[in-house]
Amino acid sequence: MRVAVLGATGRLGRVVVDRALAEGHEVVALARRPRADQVRHERYTEHQADVMDLDSLSVLDGVDAVVFLVGRPGRSTTVVRSTGMSNVVKAAAGYGIKRVIAVSPSAVHIGRDATLVRKAALRFFWHKLNRNPFLDLERMEDELGLSDLDWTVVRTARLTGRPASGAFDAVPGSVRGPERPVALADLAGYVVGHLDDGALHRAVVTLTGKR
Ligand SMILES: NC(=O)c1ccc[n+]([C@@H]2O[C@H](COP(=O)([O-])OP(=O)(O)OC[C@H]3O[C@@H](n4cnc5c(N)ncnc54)[C@H](OP(=O)(O)O)[C@@H]3O)[C@@H](O)[C@H]2O)c1
Repeated sequence: MRVAVLGATGRLGRVVVDRALAEGHEVVALARRPRADQVRHERYTEHQADVMDLDSLSVLDGVDAVVFLVGRPGRSTTVVRSTGMSNVVKAAAGYGIKRVIAVSPSAVHIGRDATLVRKAALRFFWHKLNRNPFLDLERMEDELGLSDLDWTVVRTARLTGRPASGAFDAVPGSVRGPERPVALADLAGYVVGHLDDGALHRAVVTLTGKR
């Protein structure tokens, strides 16, 4: 597939790019600034694009799927994910792209069936601490949910830099109780491995490490 990775130069983006190339995909990498350590691969091209600027997303013309990994470090107010996703949805409609996968931290969503302990920890600690980025992430997920794209939101527990082990569960929706860290390499493998998976269209899954 011809896959656009938005946020390709970030912590998650780099690993997803490597995995997509390893799996034989053609990668269109997007970010505002190019990578210092350039990727040299015949199936890799890097483009400057700002998700806040719809016109700059014209580079999406001709891609089969978009992986959205745009973010901003820190806890300040931002709309880069939500407005960025809104622009991606518009661009996707314009270029006939149906498939979009976005990654979100599992803590953003407080599941109705979560345990009381989890609800309290999320509501009174994580959501207070990360109020601004979480609001942006919630809105990003809403943009997808309201679209008619074949979207998937992959929510993930805390990510580690360990090698891929496959030791994780992919739970539909949210997790109820405590979650365990997941290797970033496993997340990348999951995202790339499900680019073409119709069973995950219009679905949310949460990745959590195995006991
Ligand atoms: N790190 C985690 O543990 C984790 C877990 C789950 C979900 N997430 C979410 O996954 C996303 C990526 O996380 P990360 O840790 O990889 O973030 P990161 O290292 O800060 O990377 C963010 C990426 O987004 C790009 N970007 C920022 N603003 C942009 C814009 N206006 N237009 C285009 N590209 C833009 C950055 O490149 P430029 O600045 O050059 O544009 C960079 O490539 C975030 O939304 C984060 O909340 C992270």
